Amino acid sequence: MPQSQPQPEPRPQQSPAERPGPVSRVDVQLGERSYSVHVGPGARNLLPEVVAVLGARRAAIVTARPPETVPDPGVPSTVIPVRDGERHKTLATVEDLCRRFTAFGITRHDVVVSCGGGTTTDTAGLAAALHHRGVPVIHLPTTLLAQVDASVGGKTAVNLPEGKNLVGAYWQPAAVLCDTTYLETLPAEEWTNGYGEIARCHFIGAGDLRGLAVHEQVTASLRLKASVVSADERDTGRRHILNYGHTLGHALETATGFAVRHGVGVAIGTVFAGRLALALGRITAGRAEEHAQVVRDYGLPGALPADADPAVLITLMRRDKKAAGDGLAFVLDGPHGAELVPGVPEDVVRRVLDGMPRQGGPAKP
Ligand code: GLY
Repeated sequence: MPQSQPQPEPRPQQSPAERPGPVSRVDVQLGERSYSVHVGPGARNLLPEVVAVLGARRAAIVTARPPETVPDPGVPSTVIPVRDGERHKTLATVEDLCRRFTAFGITRHDVVVSCGGGTTTDTAGLAAALHHRGVPVIHLPTTLLAQVDASVGGKTAVNLPEGKNLVGAYWQPAAVLCDTTYLETLPAEEWTNGYGEIARCHFIGAGDLRGLAVHEQVTASLRLKASVVSADERDTGRRHILNYGHTLGHALETATGFAVRHGVGVAIGTVFAGRLALALGRITAGRAEEHAQVVRDYGLPGALPADADPAVLITLMRRDKKAAGDGLAFVLDGPHGAELVPGVPEDVVRRVLDGMPRQGGPAKP
C-alpha cells in the first residue's frame, strides 16, 4: 500500500466581512434619537452587539442580498427577501413587509434589519416606521449611494405613480453599519450612482475628497451629512443643502422613467447648478468650471441626455418640494456657500439648460 502523503490542513476561508480593518464611527446627534454609523471593512459584524444593546427580542431581516451576507443578529429571526429598485419601492411592498412582520410577531420590542441598496433601506425603513407606529430599524447599506446618503438621516419613503418619494416618514435608524466590503462586488453603474452624491459633497462643505480611499470618502461624506441632519432633522432649512444638484437630477430621473439613475442625475444637476449660479452672478466662471471638473474627475457624465426637453424639465422642477410655491428654487453655491435660492427666473433657467452640453454632442463653452 502506498503511504498516504500528509495533506495540508485546509485553510479556513476568511470572508471579506470577517477580514479585520479599520472601522470608524460617525455619530448623528439627535438627543434621545441619536445613533452611530459604523464605516469600514467588517462593520456588519457589529450587528449582534447593536441588537443586544437595543434589547430587541427578535429580528425581521429584510434583505435584497443573499441571506448569508447578513450576520446572525443573535436573536430569533426571519429573513424576508426583497428586491432593490425604484419599481419595488411601493406602498404594496410596505404592506407586504408589515404583514410578514405581523406573521413573525414583530413588536416595538423587536428590530427590523434592512440590507440592500437605498431603495431597500427606504422601503424597509418606512415599513419599520409604520408597523405598530414604529419598530427600531438597523440599516446595512450595500451600495455606495446607500452608504453615503440614503441610509443615514431618517428619510424613508416610497414612490407613487405620480412621483418619487411622495409617501414617507422621518424614522431615524437605531444604527447604520456601512460595511465597505459590500462594495467589492458592486457593478460599475452602482459606483457611478454613488459617486454622484460624493461629487456634490465637494460644494456643500465636505472639502475635496478626490483621490482619497473609498472608506475615507464615505466617512467624510457621512460626517458632513451627520452634522447637517443633527442641525436640521426635518429639512426646514440647512438640510436643503444636501439636495445640491438634485432639482435637475430628480427631473431627469422622472423625465426618463428612471433610465437616468439618481447619482447620474445628481452629477448632471451639479454641473447645471454651477452654470446657473454663474448666470445669476453668484460665483465666478472658475468656480463654475470647478463643478464640471469635479464631476469629470469622479468619472461622471455632466451633459444632458441628447433628447432631454428643457420645457419638460422646467415643468418637473416647478413641482420640486423645495419650490414651495415660489416658482423655481435651487440650492446654489454663492458668496456664503451653498444655500436655497427661491424665485429663480424661468428665462435664466431655460437659457442655462439650452447652453448645457448634450451627450453625444460637441461640448458647449
Ligand atoms: N438625501 C437628502 C437628505 O437626506 O436630506
